Amino acid sequence: MKYLGLFLTLLIVAAGCGRDMMSERGFALPEGDAIAGREAFLYMQCTQCHTIVGEEFPPVPGYEPYVQLGGQVSRVKTYGELVTAIINPSHKLAKGYAESLVSEGGESKMYIYNSYMTVQELIDIVMFLQPHYDVVAPRYAYPIYP
Ligand code: HEC
Repeated sequence: MKYLGLFLTLLIVAAGCGRDMMSERGFALPEGDAIAGREAFLYMQCTQCHTIVGEEFPPVPGYEPYVQLGGQVSRVKTYGELVTAIINPSHKLAKGYAESLVSEGGESKMYIYNSYMTVQELIDIVMFLQPHYDVVAPRYAYPIYP
């Protein structure tokens, strides 16, 4: 019993360290090339499932894109969020879609590209995608009393 306090302190410190080691603090990727990113988006066939606001892509035979990227959002899509959406799609599912449309058993229906997408392709694609998001102030509906 005498050592319980010490034990608990150590446990808390250890838990803190664990979290710290998994922290994204200090994480920074170099800038990509948006033109190369557009090309990668095409040859990796992201267009099987995605449209992008303001872009025209040739259709992929047999596929009907159903998830829109870009367009108006209420706050900026950060670099980190876009990278995460690509390399860890199930971490947070895109908003505004029925869960059954975009996921199965809680997992995103998006393919995992991690084994064959290069880091260069990743940063190029993110560089290409980011400017397609347009931040607008959320519209609040205020009741108007006569
Ligand atoms: C087989 C279909 C499919 C393909 C192919 C696909 N995606 Fe997705 N993607 C999805 C679905 C479904 C979602 C929504 C669920 C989610 O957030 O993971 C999504 C979500 C995203 C999001 C997050 C959108 C948001 O608003 O949060 C990004 C960014 C994205 N995809 C990029 C890509 C890129 C880049 C590629 C090609 C390398 C790609 N996707 C290929 C199905 C696909």
